[in-house]
Amino acid sequence: MANRLPVDRKDEPDGTTSWQTSPGGLVTALEPIMREHDGAWVGWTGAPGDAPPPFEAGNMDLVPVPISAEEIEGYYEGMSNGTLWPLYHDVIVPPEFHRPWWESYVAVNQRFATATAAQAAIGATVWVQDYQLQLVPMMLRETRPDLRIGFFNHIPFPPYEIFAQLPWRRKILDGLLGADLLGFQRPADANNFLRACRRNGLTTRRGAVVVPGPGGNGTRAVRAAAFPISVDTEELDRAARTPEILERAKQIRHELGDPGVILLGVDRLDYTKGILHRLKAVSELYDEGRLGSKETVFVQVATPSRERVGSYQVLRDEVEVIVGRINGVHGHIGNPVVHYLMQSFPRSELTALYLAADVLLVTALRDGMNLVAKEYVASRHDEGGALVLSEFTGAANELGSAYLVNPHDIEGLKDVIVRAVSDPARERARRMRSMRRRVFLHDVGRWASDFLRALNPAVPDPAVPDPAATERAVPSRHDDVDDFGIVPFEQPVAVRG
Ligand code: ADP
Ligand code: F6P
Repeated sequence: MANRLPVDRKDEPDGTTSWQTSPGGLVTALEPIMREHDGAWVGWTGAPGDAPPPFEAGNMDLVPVPISAEEIEGYYEGMSNGTLWPLYHDVIVPPEFHRPWWESYVAVNQRFATATAAQAAIGATVWVQDYQLQLVPMMLRETRPDLRIGFFNHIPFPPYEIFAQLPWRRKILDGLLGADLLGFQRPADANNFLRACRRNGLTTRRGAVVVPGPGGNGTRAVRAAAFPISVDTEELDRAARTPEILERAKQIRHELGDPGVILLGVDRLDYTKGILHRLKAVSELYDEGRLGSKETVFVQVATPSRERVGSYQVLRDEVEVIVGRINGVHGHIGNPVVHYLMQSFPRSELTALYLAADVLLVTALRDGMNLVAKEYVASRHDEGGALVLSEFTGAANELGSAYLVNPHDIEGLKDVIVRAVSDPARERARRMRSMRRRVFLHDVGRWASDFLRALNPAVPDPAVPDPAATERAVPSRHDDVDDFGIVPFEQPVAVRG
């Protein structure tokens, strides 16, 4: 269950309806998982009003939940993206607290819970996704105690000093505690959640919150742990080796004027992504002549996002002003230095862009994971390219061989960009190799199976061969030493009452 279905409904002016891939990392990550497994995806179509009946698309069963125009303002643009999103991302813009938004959030969460309760078989597993649906786990448990309920937070969980601002903080914690297992991107997020629980008078023990058991009898343990999300590494690697994409990468380079260096940014147009910091750094490097305006081009792809929310409109205007300024000062006839594309691209085009780019700039001010960073690494089978990666992304926890950077430190960011551009190919390949090892070991399939096995230990581990099927001792993927500080799965400690 996720706020969005993997496809978005678009009502065209001529009265027809078309469907497009929904934006964001959640859909990118879950789509390959859901294509391969049984189960229904419950979510919103992205359009206001009545929902169509359940339908099948791309080998997935989709169950639409209706959201009215008024609820889009209150639940989605308001509470989800005007309150929780900035609050959970280090208050980069001030969160707003409005009681009608909260009421709308409660009503829509209840609708998701009801729709899912009607779909789920007895004893089914329900996996609730992300901050838009934090009340659903408890709402589901109250009506369907037979279900096994997991929740995964795709975005950071903030330190208590920030979370405490939320007028409904205790209700959010209680909502989440309806789950059997809570997954977070980083150990720090899981710890922030556990600390928030303690500060609200709850007891925690060995990574779990102890809550009353069914019917108030005994106790139930709700475990909170890190399960860093990832990408479909093998598929990205495979696609990036196809002759069509290799050819398209060459063509992109040519269309850009065969520059010596291509810098690339790929983001939703969101203030958390640090696009302005990146543009400021690149602009100063051109001003100072440390990047040559004839040799270096910067391609910034920015998918439109949450366009009716004020802070997103302000960001768009600011980005467009600075891009215009850089091109005005440094561009040449027929050759802008910044290619700004506020468009969504097919996956094949993004992969070709990744292959064409000498440096990918990920300068997020705060990001749960940042799948774009992992997609770049997964695509670079040639071990070329360099990843400049903000310390404030979940990905930085795993990709320590990237060119790590604090995006607030513009001088530092400039130096790191110059290093990433000018380091010897050998050094860039060494870093890329090490990062590729990580994304091959921890792909999205492993993320899902680790979470689902932790939620339900009866689920078999696809990485472990069936001992009955072979006499030979075959090492499992999980025998690899995990040197990235990710806590391996342990059985929950406390017991049902
Ligand atoms: P978020 O979930 O905050 O949007 P992520 O980096 O984790 O950030 O995921 C973004 C996803 O959206 C990635 O899979 C990326 O490939 C995709 N994406 C980003 N920009 C575009 C674009 N312009 N066109 C198509 N897909 C995009
Ligand atoms: O986790 C990132 C996320 O917020 C997802 O929940 C969401 O689907 C995606 O980014 C895109 O945002 P939106 O659904 O608001 O367009």
